[in-house]
Amino acid sequence: MNDLNALPADFTWGVATAAYQIEGAVAEDGRTPSIWDTFSHTPGAVDNGDTGDVACDHYHRVPEDIALMRRLGVGAYRFSLAWPRVVPGGDGPVNKAGLDFYDRLVDGLLEAGVTPFATLYHWDLPQVLQDRGGWPVRETAEHFAAYAAVVAGRLGDRVKDWATLNEPLCSSWIGHLEGRMAPGLTDLTAAVRASYHLHLGHGLAVQAIRAASADARIGIVNNLSPIEPASDSDADRAAAVRADGHTNRWWLDPVHGRGYPADMRELYGVELPERPGDLETIAAPLDWLGLNYYFRQIVRDDPDGPVPYARQVEVAGARTTHMGWEVHADGLEQLLGRLTREYGARRLYVTENGSAFPDVVRADGTVDDPERVRYLEEHLAACARAVADGAPLAGYFAWSLLDNFEWAYGYDKRFGLVHVDYATQRRTVKGSGHRYAEIIRAAAERGRRAA
Ligand code: FCB
Repeated sequence: MNDLNALPADFTWGVATAAYQIEGAVAEDGRTPSIWDTFSHTPGAVDNGDTGDVACDHYHRVPEDIALMRRLGVGAYRFSLAWPRVVPGGDGPVNKAGLDFYDRLVDGLLEAGVTPFATLYHWDLPQVLQDRGGWPVRETAEHFAAYAAVVAGRLGDRVKDWATLNEPLCSSWIGHLEGRMAPGLTDLTAAVRASYHLHLGHGLAVQAIRAASADARIGIVNNLSPIEPASDSDADRAAAVRADGHTNRWWLDPVHGRGYPADMRELYGVELPERPGDLETIAAPLDWLGLNYYFRQIVRDDPDGPVPYARQVEVAGARTTHMGWEVHADGLEQLLGRLTREYGARRLYVTENGSAFPDVVRADGTVDDPERVRYLEEHLAACARAVADGAPLAGYFAWSLLDNFEWAYGYDKRFGLVHVDYATQRRTVKGSGHRYAEIIRAAAERGRRAA
C-alpha cells in the first residue's frame, strides 16, 4: 500500500492479546481466581454462559502461538500478565510457577525475534483483592505497585516495553458504573474512586518499574473516542463536552499533570480520595502513550439518562462490525492528532485496533474475511495520514492475534487475524492475517530500498 509510505522505517508491527482472553488454565500452577473468573461464572453475565476457563488454551500452546507470530512476520507482541498467577494472594508471596510461565514466554518471543510489550493489568484483578474492596480502596493501588515490582524485577532484563494499565475507563465505568464487566457494580462513587486508584496504581507502578529496570520504556493504554454532537443545538454540544470529559479527558488529563477535569468532578459530585502528592505520582513522566481505537461517538443530550447525560446515537447507513460498532477510520487519525497537539505526545502506539466479524472456516480450510482486510487497510492508512501530519506514531498492534474470549460477549465475537476452532483449538490464519503479513513484508522491503 503506497499510502503507508509515511510510516517510519522502524515502525513496530505488532499483534495484541490479553491474559484472561486467551490463556485458559485458570486453576493451574497456583493461579487463583480473578474478578473475571467470578464474573464469567455468574449466571447471565456473559453471553452463552461462556467463561475463560479454557479460552485459546494459550497457556499450553505458547510455542505454537509464537510460531504463528513468526508466520505473520510481526515484530512485536503485546500481551498481558495475569496478576493472580504471579501473586495469587493479591499481595504477599510470589508464585514462582506463574512467573516462570511469562519468563518462558518472553524467552520464546526473543528467540523468535519478536519484541515483548508487557501489559501489567488487563482487567483480571485477583478476586481476593476484590473481596477486600477492590479498586475503590487505596490498598489495591499499593498492591498493584508491589506486583509490578515483582514482574519488572524478574523480566526487566529482557522486557523493555511496559504498559501499566489497559483501558482503565473500562475497569471503572463499565465495571463499576454500568455493571457490564467485572466486578459488575453500578455505583458512581465506587466507579470514580476506582478510576482514581487505578491512576494512582499506575503512577506507583511506573516508579516500581523504573526502580527495577532503569532502561524500561513505560506507557499507559487508554481507549478513546472522538466525540461529535448529534446536532448543532447548545444542548447536544454541551452533551458532547460531557461525553468527551467522561471518555477522554478524565483519562488523559491526570496522567499529563493537569489534574482531574473540573467540569467532570462537578458533574460526578464524588469527592476524590486524594492525598498530598498523589497527583504528582499519577503524572509520573511516561515514555509513550498507547491508544486503543475502536469507534467514535455521536451523542445527544440525555438529561434523564445515566452519567454523563449524553446518549450515543447510531449513524444512519454506517458500516458496522459484528459488535455493532461503526467503522470510522478517520477517528483514529483525529485521535492521534489530538494526542500530538493537545497533549504534546512524544511517542505513540496504537496498542489495539481491530474488528469482529462472524468468520467461518470454509470447506477448503481457508477463512475469507474481506471486511476485516478492508478495516485493517483503512485504519493503517489513517495511521499514515496522522504520521504525515506530525503524529509521533511508533507502532501498531492489531487486535487480535487470535479469536478469543471477548469479555461479556463470550466467544461469539471473533477479532482474530487467526481463527480459533474452540472444539479442537485448531488455528487457521485468516485472509486478514495473510494480508497483514504482506503489508509488513512490503514495509520491510520499502525500508531496505530506502536504506
Ligand atoms: C478492548 C479490550 C480488548 C478487546 C477489544 C475488542 O476494549 O482492551 O481486550 O476486548 O476491546
